[in-house]
Amino acid sequence: MRIGVLTAGGDCPGLNAVIRSVVHRAAVGHGDEVIGFEDGFKGLLDGHYRPLDINAVSGILARGGTILGSARMERARLHEAAENAAELARRYGIDALIPIGGEGTLTAARMLSDAGMPVVGVPKTIDNDISSTDRTFGFDTAVTVATEAIDRLKTTAESHQRVMVVEVMGRHAGWIALESGMAGGAHGICLPERHFEVDALVKMVEERFSRGKKFAVICVAEGAHPAAGSMPYEKGAIDQYGHERFAGIGNRLAIELEHRLGKEARPVILGHVQRGGVPTAYDRVLATRFGWHAVEAVHRGDFGNMTALRGTQIVMAPLAEAVTALKTVPEDRMFEAESVF
Ligand code: F6P
Repeated sequence: MRIGVLTAGGDCPGLNAVIRSVVHRAAVGHGDEVIGFEDGFKGLLDGHYRPLDINAVSGILARGGTILGSARMERARLHEAAENAAELARRYGIDALIPIGGEGTLTAARMLSDAGMPVVGVPKTIDNDISSTDRTFGFDTAVTVATEAIDRLKTTAESHQRVMVVEVMGRHAGWIALESGMAGGAHGICLPERHFEVDALVKMVEERFSRGKKFAVICVAEGAHPAAGSMPYEKGAIDQYGHERFAGIGNRLAIELEHRLGKEARPVILGHVQRGGVPTAYDRVLATRFGWHAVEAVHRGDFGNMTALRGTQIVMAPLAEAVTALKTVPEDRMFEAESVF
């Protein structure tokens, strides 16, 4: 068999571990040929690809980023890829395509699959917001980075009796804020799923200081919004990929808290630090298992599906199901987190 693989959308620690695993299982396990398209779907459309053998993937297990490059793509070009799906498969002589990506990539994968290309998807995102899978690789790394940052910020916040507002990634789902906030012992967590009240944060900080505590850390997801009338905050513009350009909730909230509390507040925007560097052991293992199972699915002809983690098992889930709704943080998880502030 000849299998194509690509990585698309925002990068994520563990992508290289999937590529390595696909090549090992396909080339060594089944005697397949693997080609890697460069820069996501652009490589597929523009004919930029290279052969991947075990030498090409040697030493990349622990490397962040993706050796294939990644890119977001405008919807119009994705439709162009879908319209030419069967022709593209013929052009490259591929029997299957394994696209590794988040919601946008898996939606494109579904379009290609519906249009006749044999596709097995692999979900990735640090945001952990893909339905049908308990976890995506990259998430554990992002939570580990954000937790370490909160731990570090606590000591400097205490020395200076400050409020620290840590902004983490999480566009529509607050999983990183929830879990790093819990693991780091943040005193407030603001998620995109529920608009937050600034008054409640002010009360919480005042209450801590009245008990003799001299600092507070608030973990806020980049996609969190204040409740209406709670604080002025403009929604950002939409970019060419349909994503909101965030107006910087961390900065805005720190300014507002400093003003209302009369205490120093500092924003810390973790940004792409959460997405770069080496994947954790957990993410390397999950990514490796996803790659292995994707190749097995190709050999079974199990197309139109993606790999998914359910409990400890890797199963196949329909792409159609995975991309219909994002997996957001449910009420009960927020309730648990709040009970330990
Ligand atoms: O979807 C993953 C993600 O890391 C989001 O959390 C974040 O909003 C976005 O990507 C950032 O994208 P970009 O790399 O285009 O700035």
